Amino acid sequence: MIAVAIDGPSGVGKSSVSQEVAKKLGFFHLDTGALYRAIAYYAVKNEIFSGFSANELKKIDIKVEFKDNSQSTFLNGENITELLRNEEIAKIASKISREKLIRNFLIVIQRNVAKENNVIMDGRDIGTVVLPQANLKIFLTAKPEVRAQRRFLELKENGHKNVIFNDVLKEIVERDNEDSRRKVAPLKVAEDAVFLDSSNMNLNETVLKIMNLVKGIL
Ligand code: DC
Repeated sequence: MIAVAIDGPSGVGKSSVSQEVAKKLGFFHLDTGALYRAIAYYAVKNEIFSGFSANELKKIDIKVEFKDNSQSTFLNGENITELLRNEEIAKIASKISREKLIRNFLIVIQRNVAKENNVIMDGRDIGTVVLPQANLKIFLTAKPEVRAQRRFLELKENGHKNVIFNDVLKEIVERDNEDSRRKVAPLKVAEDAVFLDSSNMNLNETVLKIMNLVKGIL
């Protein structure tokens, strides 16, 4: 099986890029952020505000399905894919992702996908922790201002008329800090990763660049 790890900070477009690359290669694309978001969704639904116990985790069954090049995420049988992409869930996901118990719980799901499928896996710790033996590791980043600008335009396009650029930038910087400063599996560049700054690249250019890197390992 072939595994490509794409790690990087939030708002860099890892998921869009990974999805395109996976489509071109006929690989699965696992968006691991969705798994952390699924636990965040469970926490909100069950009003868990301070830490998950091993017993609580036993009540959680997370499954992913890949159809027509896109991932659906299921929590205890319910398809929650569309309920995960909002800022409230993102913040809680970032918070709960510090918990070792949760990370260990989700590592199993991630590794199982890679065991049985050729996969492009995107996240924060794929190259460093989840798949240290990945065939190719990419650290995809862009300047915070560039990521904030992309997110800002996306929000505006989606009808959030009153969104303020500086608020978006502040959230991006806060999440960068939280994700890279946590003790367990922080966001960092794997020693053997290819570092790719996409500040001056659009989606297609980034996809092309990654496709060229992937061709080198096939
Ligand atoms: O990629 P995303 O924005 O959907 O991720 C949401 C949060 O989940 C992110 O702030 C940190 C956490 N996360 C993580 O700790 N490790 C991963 N492999 C993926 C996400």
